Amino acid sequence: MRVAGKAYRTIWPSSTGASFEIIDQTRLPHEFEILSIRTVDEAARAIKIMQVRGAPLIGVTAAYGLALAMNADPSDANLETACALLAATRPTAVNLQWALAAMRQYLLALPASKRGTAGFAHAAAVAEQDVDLCEAIGEHGLQLIREMARAKGDRIHILTHCNAGWLATVDWGTATAPIYKAHNEGIDLHVWVDETRPRNQGASLTAWELGQHGVPHTIIVDNAGGHLMQHGMVDMVMVGTDRTSASGDVCNKIGTYLKALAAMDNGVPFFVAAPSPSIDFAIEDGVAEIPIETRSAREITHMTGRSADGRIETVCLTPSGSEALNYAFDVTPARLVTGLITERGVIEANRTALAKTFPEPVAKVREPS
Ligand code: MRU
Repeated sequence: MRVAGKAYRTIWPSSTGASFEIIDQTRLPHEFEILSIRTVDEAARAIKIMQVRGAPLIGVTAAYGLALAMNADPSDANLETACALLAATRPTAVNLQWALAAMRQYLLALPASKRGTAGFAHAAAVAEQDVDLCEAIGEHGLQLIREMARAKGDRIHILTHCNAGWLATVDWGTATAPIYKAHNEGIDLHVWVDETRPRNQGASLTAWELGQHGVPHTIIVDNAGGHLMQHGMVDMVMVGTDRTSASGDVCNKIGTYLKALAAMDNGVPFFVAAPSPSIDFAIEDGVAEIPIETRSAREITHMTGRSADGRIETVCLTPSGSEALNYAFDVTPARLVTGLITERGVIEANRTALAKTFPEPVAKVREPS
């Protein structure tokens, strides 16, 4: 996607093959900064402190991180150590485990002397595959938006939560891919952007990337969605997912569940863009089984922004002594999901539809050519 008119992806290998580059998402929307990641420790840190975030991008970053580890020391022992280090960075998005498993299997089959170079090529294949999956989701979701625009004959209003945009993937995004495609072909649409407390991925990232692409949008507080839906101001909800269970329960950024409840109560379709690496076929009951990340209370008690004189400042919002509890994700039961937009089409959120669409549950990474 474009930043100030120039095409970017969120992650790419350096020309020397000794490092990879990322957009530092902790600096957005105020500063656009590219970071070089040179070691597996730096890759793990970038995921942990959310310089990169979003389920698909976390997976791709881990893949490149493993390649760096293999450059440094291609032994089996180091491969296992690096996998464990990266796997421990964030617990909820299953794409991380998926990418690590795919990379590990590929690398273990190679002689140690080849693992560095081949690791980079395979990580690039994981990245390319992510772009393809998002594009396919974009095409299927575009059909939904086209149909809705035709039926309504007026501007379409889509509500989204968190950032399931291109910043959360390698390119296109999941929930935003249909939006970008619809906007590109001239469909009149507008996006309600949930600010997504406490880290404000909606206000800081989704709003920024939609703005860069010229998509009309309005930031709303997280609690406004239900009100907008009651007043006929939302035509559809489109969100991403960090892990979807085999039965179609959707884990996504905290607050997604409340949007789904409001959508159900108001007859607003609730769609989830779900590339196959984010589907966990080993889990049945999402509410009971998906591990929910708890992050630092400081993300709730403090907020960072730009002051009037241009400085980036962090301020405290809460009384000293008050505790804060920061669950980062919640699970929306399948019964509240109108449809999953997968790379293979829009399907019902249930076990039968998922099993039929993905008879070989674990998506393979295409071999580098
Ligand atoms: O904590 P984050 O910013 O990594 O959470 C991101 C989300 O919840 C996204 O909605 C999800 O990863 C889907 S991204 C295509």
